Amino acid sequence: MNWVLIITLFSLSSAVTLINNAKFNPDNRDVVLSNITGVNSQFNCICLCFSNSKCLTAMYSAITQRCILYLASLNQGTLTLMTTNAMTSVFTFRNKTLPAPSSVTSTNETVYGIWNTSAGHDSFASTSGTSSGNYVASESPINVFDGNLNTKYINFGSCNATFGLYDAECGVNTGLYVSLRRGPSLLQGFVFGTANSFPARDPLVISIEGSNESPSQLTFGSSWNLIYNGSCGLDVDPGRYSWGVPQWIVNNTKWYSSYRILVVSKRSTGEFVQYAEINLLAYYVD
Ligand SMILES: *[C@@H]1O[C@H](CO)[C@@H](O)[C@H](O)[C@H]1NC(C)=O
Ligand SMILES: *[C@@H]1O[C@H](CO)[C@@H](O)[C@H](O)[C@H]1NC(C)=O
Ligand SMILES: *[C@@H]1O[C@H](CO)[C@@H](O)[C@H](O)[C@H]1NC(C)=O
Ligand SMILES: *[C@@H]1O[C@H](CO)[C@@H](O)[C@H](O)[C@H]1NC(C)=O
Ligand SMILES: *[C@@H]1O[C@H](CO)[C@@H](O)[C@H](O)[C@H]1NC(C)=O
Ligand SMILES: *[C@@H]1O[C@H](CO)[C@@H](O)[C@H](O)[C@H]1NC(C)=O
Ligand SMILES: *[C@@H]1O[C@H](CO)[C@@H](O)[C@H](O)[C@H]1NC(C)=O
Repeated sequence: MNWVLIITLFSLSSAVTLINNAKFNPDNRDVVLSNITGVNSQFNCICLCFSNSKCLTAMYSAITQRCILYLASLNQGTLTLMTTNAMTSVFTFRNKTLPAPSSVTSTNETVYGIWNTSAGHDSFASTSGTSSGNYVASESPINVFDGNLNTKYINFGSCNATFGLYDAECGVNTGLYVSLRRGPSLLQGFVFGTANSFPARDPLVISIEGSNESPSQLTFGSSWNLIYNGSCGLDVDPGRYSWGVPQWIVNNTKWYSSYRILVVSKRSTGEFVQYAEINLLAYYVD
């Protein structure tokens, strides 16, 4: 296997594996960080990848002098062997440490509030009001991505507050979905922020699903793939207007353009579920 040549060009912590006469086909086409022309040597392409903090793998064509940088490790794609005269090579930084994932939402996302919905099932739209399936107009789902712990999203779920319903189920199976303005991302974790009042209304367990379907398909449960189902990081009440414990999603390799977040359980009794913020932490290509 002569075509695998391991070189340690840079520091010990960032060894490069070079694979000559190969092409890299990433599993997801959203991982291309840049596509640079006029790169006159393989060495310069390696340097370009080295100096881009998100570049893990790159492909160089000596014929077209093109260097393509990918936010993907070698195992997030496949290699195709090429003939020698194609003059392409692939190299990968085996243990480069990526920067921490960052927040992917903007303050003006279009967010759809939903209720009567659980992972894998169809979504039912929530509207404003004070009865079952409603959120209060001033406490709508857009508030979770406004970067402000002073505003919150509440949802009564199956409970009719006008009728005086008040239990642990109120607000369970509610949540939201959003197609992020930034485009596809690789979700790595998230942090929930608590609202102003009553810890009993905090969510405890949530599910997160991802989808690459078009907006018209997103009400269908079949459009969604489960990414996470567990604690939202508020097991220990961090206090009001406060961030919970960041929750990390281990081994997620799937890029999604939309996310659906649903409340599976709530801390205690109360007429609705409430939270101030959800900070989604992900990798993406600018
Ligand atoms: C980098 O990865 C190689 C194996 O792929 C390993 O032997 C080496 O210890 C790693 N270096 C660091 C600094 O983690
Ligand atoms: C790089 O750019 C060229 C020219 O626009 C295009 O043909 C090629 O498909 C691009 N490659 C990737 C991986 O984006
Ligand atoms: C809000 O979204 C629109 C696209 O609909 C965009 O043009 C605008 O720049 C965004 N504003 C902010 C403050 O992000
Ligand atoms: C709640 O969802 C079920 C399907 O899971 C559906 O049959 C029922 O009509 C929904 N209820 C309301 C009030 O939308
Ligand atoms: C909620 O309860 C009020 C008062 O009993 C009633 O008028 C209203 O129709 C109920 N709403 C729903 C959606 O059941
Ligand atoms: C999520 O976890 C809860 C337990 O916390 C479980 O009841 C539920 O079935 C799980 N949902 C999925 C879709 O795995
Ligand atoms: C993540 O992947 C590694 C390597 O495949 C594996 O050893 C580990 O158990 C996985 N962790 C989880 C939580 O799935």
